[in-house]
Amino acid sequence: MRRIITFGTFDVYHVGHVNILERAKELGNYLIVGVSTDALNFEKKNRYPIFTEQQRLQMVATTYCVDEVFLEESLEKKGHYIEKYSADILVMGNDWADKFDHLSNLCKVIYLPRTEGISTSEILRIIRKR
Ligand code: CTP
Repeated sequence: MRRIITFGTFDVYHVGHVNILERAKELGNYLIVGVSTDALNFEKKNRYPIFTEQQRLQMVATTYCVDEVFLEESLEKKGHYIEKYSADILVMGNDWADKFDHLSNLCKVIYLPRTEGISTSEILRIIRKR
């Protein structure tokens, strides 16, 4: 049994999000996803996501390849979550390349390429322009 863990905001849920979850799941058998809290987003970006943490959590939890979800309360607690959920592999998008290499003493760390041409920020920009 290989347990995979990944993290994200997953606001304005889109196909880039689904793609990384599908590819993460292919690396093992059980996929755990940490969805960042509203407070954590406000702390880092000075604005709240469009959708609430409960709505974002629900979108991710109902994605067919996801086995378990939880709310990620602090970016600095990744090591704690890896141990708590007994993860064997941490998957992150390659926008985070090298940033989590220090966790490789706890589990394998893999960066997957992002889906090109789509992001929450870009979707919001397009909607604002219309
Ligand atoms: N992701 C991806 N491909 C994309 C967009 C996101 O693989 N086109 C991945 C990210 O690398 C991350 C996860 O999906 O591992 C959650 O991403 P998140 O930061 O919530 O979404 P973004 O769409 O990147 O949001 P933003 O534009 O606000 O950065």
